[in-house]
Amino acid sequence: MNTPVLFVTRRAHFNAAHKLYNPAWTKEENEACFGKCANEYWHGHNFDLYVTIKGRPSKDTGFVMDLKKLKVLIENEIIVHLDHKNLNIDVPFLKDVLPSVENIAIAVWDRLEPHLPEGVKLHKIHLIETVNNSVEYYGPDVLL
Ligand code: NI
Repeated sequence: MNTPVLFVTRRAHFNAAHKLYNPAWTKEENEACFGKCANEYWHGHNFDLYVTIKGRPSKDTGFVMDLKKLKVLIENEIIVHLDHKNLNIDVPFLKDVLPSVENIAIAVWDRLEPHLPEGVKLHKIHLIETVNNSVEYYGPDVLL
């Protein structure tokens, strides 16, 4: 019998500025849709990022994945690129992306997923923008 599958979560944190603004629309259309989130001179959030992986615990370590390694992966692929940055301007992998919390979560998935060790899968990106607003992303295979 296989060892069971477990879900393991690592938390990370970053602060960043953005605005929600569709360049194809007029200023008035943007303000009507995005309200104060369209504020020309940006606003900031303290983002909490929860990365959940799944896999079977190793017989040798008891770990699904060494969380120190997951921490370093999240740091190198995500945090150094986003922390204290302007998400509309500073981040090459968000170029031409409207940096909503949804689109940031997709980008986080796309950057982490290729780097996970064999036998470990990405399960969920949970990105919290404010205590009231957050997104959960389970990857591109989830259909409506
Ligand atoms: Ni915002």
